[in-house]
Amino acid sequence: MNIRSKIIGTGSYLPSRTVFNKDLEDLLNTTDEWIQQRTGITKRHWASKDETTSDLALRASERALESSSLKKEDIDLLLVATVTPDHEFPGTACFLQGKMGIPGVPAIDVRQQCGGFIFALSIADQYIRTGTYKNILIVCSELHSRCLDLTPRGRNLSVIFGDGAGAVVLQATEVKDRESESHILSTKIHSDGAQAKELWCPGPGLALFGEERMTKEMINDGLQYPQMNGRAIFSHAVRTMSESLIESLTSNGKELKDLELAFFHQANRRISEAIGKNLELDDSLIHSTVEIYGNTTSATIPIGLDDAIRNGKLKQGMLISNVAFGSGFTWGHSLIRY
Ligand code: COA
Repeated sequence: MNIRSKIIGTGSYLPSRTVFNKDLEDLLNTTDEWIQQRTGITKRHWASKDETTSDLALRASERALESSSLKKEDIDLLLVATVTPDHEFPGTACFLQGKMGIPGVPAIDVRQQCGGFIFALSIADQYIRTGTYKNILIVCSELHSRCLDLTPRGRNLSVIFGDGAGAVVLQATEVKDRESESHILSTKIHSDGAQAKELWCPGPGLALFGEERMTKEMINDGLQYPQMNGRAIFSHAVRTMSESLIESLTSNGKELKDLELAFFHQANRRISEAIGKNLELDDSLIHSTVEIYGNTTSATIPIGLDDAIRNGKLKQGMLISNVAFGSGFTWGHSLIRY
């Protein structure tokens, strides 16, 4: 039997508060013009004080389940990708599971940053291909707004990120015709830990070698905030996502002309434009949401998929490539006949 995974539902949730670039000007000593020129971002969403990462995940999950027509009890594996967990431990998947009310189902956190969706999809796909699980819920949820340095010291990073969650429901399917039937053709994931500190959040951390994982001095130094070498990230992101897109096609005997829609991790519009230019892709092939949602880390691709489906841009039977790059470094692809 040729068992493969197919996407049977998607959902997303963006918190109701919209934060425009103008709202950040005084706070971060930045300008709307700088942010738009360097990133393409015009606005992003921020969660309210009484929302958590698992709350955003719950809303996206409910919408994905509704669109799949499955009940929550049908789910037999829950994967949650996040870089902004509710707590240090247990994982956010456990907190989401408690809120969903599906005890007994394995709930696993995937800690692969902006690569989180591709890594989670790859894990889920292996479980489905081996016949271990039939219905898998993948949720990517990020609440950056309470994790960023919202002072001028953090402005290079704090203007980029937004809050939001995206979810997909995968189901096992027997594929007879690989050219027409909906399924995931392949996933491929990569990492390079030698670059871990190019984009990272040092604290709280045992490897800071203080008496505790977090001290007042560490807080004063801002070690609880993410830190980034923006230029290094930019060039690696363009190179690895370009290579991953080509890898997604060639490893399946396809060419660029076969591609019908591409979803890049939405880090920065200039990164997507540079990949498009590298590969000579028509703009209409790249689905972009970074302008209105900012960079929601692991959630950018599932939010983009849900957006494209609900807007009628992504239709059944289309060949789509998803590629991501992020902290770790981590990167990879999935090629899908939607
Ligand atoms: N507003 C105004 N000025 C800012 C600023 C902001 N928000 N952030 C940085 N600057 C200033 C810097 O202080 C610096 O000023 P100086 O020249 O007087 O020292 C200047 O802008 C250039 O800073 P630099 O960090 O070199 O800018 P850049 O051209 O590399 O652009 C990024 C910065 C972050 C937009 C860019 O590096 C980038 O997009 N990198 C990839 C980031 C990303 O995608 N991360 C997520 C990956 S998953």
